[in-house]
Amino acid sequence: MEQASWIPSSIDLDRPSAARMYDYYLGGSHNFAVDREAARSVERIYPGMSGAARANRSFLRRAVRYLLAQGVDQFLDLGSGIPTVGNVHEIAQQVHPRARVVYVDVEPVAVAHSTALLADNPLATAIQADLRDPETVLGSDEVRDTLDFTRPIGLLMVAVLHFVPDSDDPDKVVARYREALPSGGYLAISHGSLEGVPQDGLDSTERIKAIYHRTDSPLVLRSRDEIAGFFTGLDVVEPGVVPLPEWRSDSADAYISAYVGVGRKP
Ligand SMILES: C[S@@+](CC[C@H](N)C(=O)[O-])C[C@H]1O[C@@H](n2cnc3c(N)ncnc32)[C@H](O)[C@@H]1O
Repeated sequence: MEQASWIPSSIDLDRPSAARMYDYYLGGSHNFAVDREAARSVERIYPGMSGAARANRSFLRRAVRYLLAQGVDQFLDLGSGIPTVGNVHEIAQQVHPRARVVYVDVEPVAVAHSTALLADNPLATAIQADLRDPETVLGSDEVRDTLDFTRPIGLLMVAVLHFVPDSDDPDKVVARYREALPSGGYLAISHGSLEGVPQDGLDSTERIKAIYHRTDSPLVLRSRDEIAGFFTGLDVVEPGVVPLPEWRSDSADAYISAYVGVGRKP
């Protein structure tokens, strides 16, 4: 049987991936039986997972629209995921037809599908890289050729830093990207948290973390203060680092235990 173009030959079909599980929660079709099985196990523990994933996408769209309104027309999307409805370049290029986007993901399906989708889009590109290696990401030809670091850039780290364990020093990694941001650039983050999860939900969270430990992306939930620390040196815009549904939302998003924020580099 001919293999579909979005299935890279290198992937391990016996191991679930966080990117493909997220695609499943969002109703996408770029996932395999092993991903669906893991995602359904999560949903049995937390039936609100798909609503939470949609709420996270809704934050991503709000953050991108906010940055566009501030005049930002180039984006570096780290941990961009498998393309789905309302991708960053689509939102951005509706407002600024010349907007530029570089998508970065470590997962081969996410990158293969993004590359196929962007084949006719000279202003947007996707690369496979690990965001924990900022020098490789920032020094890549795609980033250097697509983005102009003398003008404001929107750096997006949406629902990805909770896949970076403390042992990989996420503070240092994020600091390196903040350093590379030009003045007037922005950083937008959403990050899963245990804060606000009721005591009787903690056991469920541990069971969900155990499922993600089977992927390459073990889940690390952090406190609001730890998440706020990623904005060190930036001016955090109103309403601050807040629970995801409270960030500039005029609709009732599903509950999601995550903190979000957007900071501007002075
Ligand atoms: C939950 S998805 C979020 C996708 C998108 N940012 C969104 O919010 O809709 C997390 C993505 O981060 C990617 N990811 C996890 N660890 C990564 C790393 N170290 N470097 C690059 N991407 C990573 C996963 O492959 C996955 O596609």
